Amino acid sequence: MKNSSDMTTSRPRLTVIGTGYLGATHAAAMAELGFEVMGVDVDPDKIDRLSQGILPFHEPELPELLTKHLSTGRLRFTTSIEEAGAFGDIHFIAVGTPQKDGEGAADLSYVDAAVEAIANAATHNCVIVGKSTVPVGTARRLQALVEKVKKTNVEISFAWNPEFLREGFAVQDTLAPDRLVVGTNSDLAITALRFVYQDALSRGTPFIATDFETSELVKVAANAFLATKISFINAFSEVTEKVGGDIRTLADAIGHDARIGRRFLNAGVGFGGGCLPKDIRALQARVGELGLDHTMAFLHEVDSINLRRRERVIDVAHSLLNGVNEKKIAILGTTFKPNSDDVRDSPALDIAARLYGQGADVRVFDPKGMENSAKRFPRLTYSRSLVDAVEGADLVLLLTEWEEFRKMDPNHIGGLVGSKVIVDGRNVLDVVEWESADWQYHALGRKSIHANPSILAT
Ligand code: UGA
Repeated sequence: MKNSSDMTTSRPRLTVIGTGYLGATHAAAMAELGFEVMGVDVDPDKIDRLSQGILPFHEPELPELLTKHLSTGRLRFTTSIEEAGAFGDIHFIAVGTPQKDGEGAADLSYVDAAVEAIANAATHNCVIVGKSTVPVGTARRLQALVEKVKKTNVEISFAWNPEFLREGFAVQDTLAPDRLVVGTNSDLAITALRFVYQDALSRGTPFIATDFETSELVKVAANAFLATKISFINAFSEVTEKVGGDIRTLADAIGHDARIGRRFLNAGVGFGGGCLPKDIRALQARVGELGLDHTMAFLHEVDSINLRRRERVIDVAHSLLNGVNEKKIAILGTTFKPNSDDVRDSPALDIAARLYGQGADVRVFDPKGMENSAKRFPRLTYSRSLVDAVEGADLVLLLTEWEEFRKMDPNHIGGLVGSKVIVDGRNVLDVVEWESADWQYHALGRKSIHANPSILAT
């Protein structure tokens, strides 16, 4: 039997169950830390591709890490949970917890199935560590499930270790996290995880050991706070738009207060992705089940402010074009943020699809998101390049702040479009530069210099 000293004298072998953004990154990063790792997934196609070093999504630095550790032999992939149960000493659960169809609550069927399967397949004493984002109460329930389904001669410790990585920075965030949080009632699990994360711990990364419930709540609290911060600034951008103020200056000014901080105060079309929107909805659903509906009622408003930003862009397009029917609209960006090919709950793609639905001739371009966007909305017109998308456009909408769009030359683009009218949905362009090149520039929460000459004075 493995006890806590075995865990640290012989290197534990790790499995990562679920090989999406979170799991594939975690598996490759753990191999980079020197562990033998087995990635497990029920999707044979995904496992096949990963085994050949092909990443099914875009994530900077990850393809290199994957290839490196397929060749060091420290990383391998399988669809067999039995193989994983015989191999691993620490099993990380990294499957998705998507929003249930038609409800705010999280769908826990994948996480339940993964925990049950590995607990049942484990042939020797081990630790199961949940990393997926789950509603509070899940870990304690799953620990009871593990006890019920495991083999009688096997002891399994259980812990929850939420993940805080950002897409686009997933490798860095996993190798150098800003904090490690572990919810458990097992000393063996703590020892095992301190061993796994010794590299980060030796650099002084805070390690917060707590109960299951707090660890689950830390994760959703962090995402709810970030979502609130974004909607807070977006609510103010509705006001600055109305009165002729400048949301960027406002964010800079309040951001200098260290208690507030400037990060996540970028106003624009709002937040999307596979995490923030679903997590605030799942949190509201869960506290509702706990009889605390009013406690998180503000998150309903956070969600509404966020969705209103999309409406606002569509309204602006209608008013600038005097109706969008048959108007050529170039949409720059479809992913929920730059450096990702993820279009889940993307404000940009949502706006593109709705304008198309309203009769606009929408031309879409995104540096990495074309394939995923086309899978979701095959009928939009996908351009081969930025230049192709803006050719003859009556209106340009910048909706995801890719470097390629931030660096656009207004004079060059101005020579291609039909009308020099742009809406900067991410507040990233230089208003003076664009207006000097004779563009009609509009941004969410920021007046143009013609409407507000005081911008010139700053
Ligand atoms: C988010 C959290 O930042 C991670 O810490 C967390 O681990 C992850 O969710 C998760 O739960 O797995 P991510 O979804 O990769 O990470 O994206 P963020 O960088 O948080 O951006 C979310 C959205 O907010 C994007 O659409 C982005 O454009 C938008 N945003 C961000 C703004 O509109 N304004 C800002 O100032 C910042």
